[in-house]
Amino acid sequence: MASVIEGIKNMALGTPVHVCEVQGDDAGQGTEQAPYKTVAKALEHPSVGEGNIVVRKSTEEGYQPIAKTALKKAQKLFEANQKKAQKLAAAAADSAAAEEKKLEEAKKIVITEDASLPAAKKIRIRDGEKHRGERVKVSGWLHRHRSQGKDLMFLVLRDGTGYLQCVLNGKLCQTYDAITLIRESTVTVYGVLQVVPEGKKAPGGHELKVDYWEIIGKAPGGTEAFDNKFNTETSPDILLDQRHLVIRGETASNVLKMRALVLKAFREYFDSRQVTEVTPPLMVQTQVEGGSTLFEFNYYGESAYLTQSSQLYLETCLASLGDVYCMAESFRAEKSHTRRHLSEFTHIEGELAFIDFEDLLTFLEDMIVTVMERVTSDPLGAEILKELNPNFVAPKKPFRRMAYSDAIKWLNDHGIKKDVLDADGTKIGEADYEFGEDIPEAPERKMTDAIGEPILLCKFPAEIKSFYMKRCGDDRRLTESVDVLMPNVGEIVGGSMRITDLAELAAGFEREGIDGKPYYWYTDQRKYGTCEHGGFGLGLERFLAWLLNRYTVREVCLYPRFMGRCQP
Ligand code: 4AD
Repeated sequence: MASVIEGIKNMALGTPVHVCEVQGDDAGQGTEQAPYKTVAKALEHPSVGEGNIVVRKSTEEGYQPIAKTALKKAQKLFEANQKKAQKLAAAAADSAAAEEKKLEEAKKIVITEDASLPAAKKIRIRDGEKHRGERVKVSGWLHRHRSQGKDLMFLVLRDGTGYLQCVLNGKLCQTYDAITLIRESTVTVYGVLQVVPEGKKAPGGHELKVDYWEIIGKAPGGTEAFDNKFNTETSPDILLDQRHLVIRGETASNVLKMRALVLKAFREYFDSRQVTEVTPPLMVQTQVEGGSTLFEFNYYGESAYLTQSSQLYLETCLASLGDVYCMAESFRAEKSHTRRHLSEFTHIEGELAFIDFEDLLTFLEDMIVTVMERVTSDPLGAEILKELNPNFVAPKKPFRRMAYSDAIKWLNDHGIKKDVLDADGTKIGEADYEFGEDIPEAPERKMTDAIGEPILLCKFPAEIKSFYMKRCGDDRRLTESVDVLMPNVGEIVGGSMRITDLAELAAGFEREGIDGKPYYWYTDQRKYGTCEHGGFGLGLERFLAWLLNRYTVREVCLYPRFMGRCQP
């Protein structure tokens, strides 16, 4: 190949190729308007010729023909770079050819299931222990894998019930599918489950000695590969965009498994106390917890809302079914981002007939303690808890009871102040909390964390609570209401006794500026045989955030909904 210098010498003098060492860019065109940055780049220009490279070293000076020595130096560099690039290209081509050959060879290796072996029994990973020594067949997603030389490969499969280590030997790890295997592909493996040798570790204490396997669905590689979708540095927003993939990870799937276990434990608890499950409508035309958080929508031309709470419907069921509960979604248009607020959450609500306030408090602490006993005595529950919140201490009965007025005093005694703001919302000072004020999230959390145990915070003033709450007999300013507060989260339950008297309920509607007419089906409960009753709502996500020590309730949702996010 003729040298570049000779090539240049042979070329006729052409249009100048511009190089500006201060403002140029090697992505430019070599023109005066878009000069290159380096002479080496100019040498690649199609019309470069001896003497037609012009250079400027500062914007003040004009373009000058390149000095001979500078040109020589650049040409040397250019040639060296060319050679390096050619070498690299040749090496890449060789390795691609070798890889191609390896793949072609691998394609010739065909594995078949040995018909003389006993038929494999289809099992789920969690049932593995019962089937040790038997020939089984397991299908799942490739959680991770590694090869050790040409003849040994370890796969860890995931099927939602657990993880299974599989060992592949010889031809089994030399097939085309084996050497191109990619994380998150689905596979079926056949073989015998064996206890892992002394000193070795594997999930469940055993591994599958694979005698045959097949691929079901390949996952993509390259930039589309699962491992390239996110990592520990990825921002929370992108993680939420990729939530459908994130939930395949160990932490997220453990959280979701715990979610299912907790729901099951609540169902079992209610069942054991003869409380009947109902499924109330979620599209409603009444409010429960104040108009400011209602999600309104067009219901065949009429205005309707997504329910804030199923409480009112539960109350109507008492005379039909006795004590009732539901586990349904509730919706709140919360216009702020906090660690514990969602736009959609799973609300576990119960309503109990012929009880008094003390019965309600006793039921709540018994429910929480019993649910926790069920969760921790379940092997999977205990395993997940150990993994995600090893320091968890199960609460004991009775819970500490604290009056709202004492909480106000506690805050003031401990120097926890409220911000005083001017008309523009700028902080201009601090002041004590006063009786009658709502206790916001931050001070409530500070108090709960400092006390460090569950609190039944009782008897809130009527003015800061909902229209339906029964007033206390001994102090009409207060209501028979309760919030259950847990360390690290704050309020996880809101409950109360309900007004039983029609006239008092009407006054409650009036106080809140609600027209009582559309609530006839609710008020009728007082008309057609009233009874003392009360109930509660527990936010499942807050309960889980407490139980699993998660920073925010968003981490314990399947697909969280909050202001600014309604997908995937
Ligand atoms: O205190 P709340 O608003 O009470 C009610 O809705 C009653 N009607 C329930 C009843 O008596 N049947 O809400 C009850 C619980 C809260 O303690 C909290 O755990 C949860 O529901 N919650 C939320 N969770 C996540 N995001 C939100 N925006 C929530 N709002 C309430």
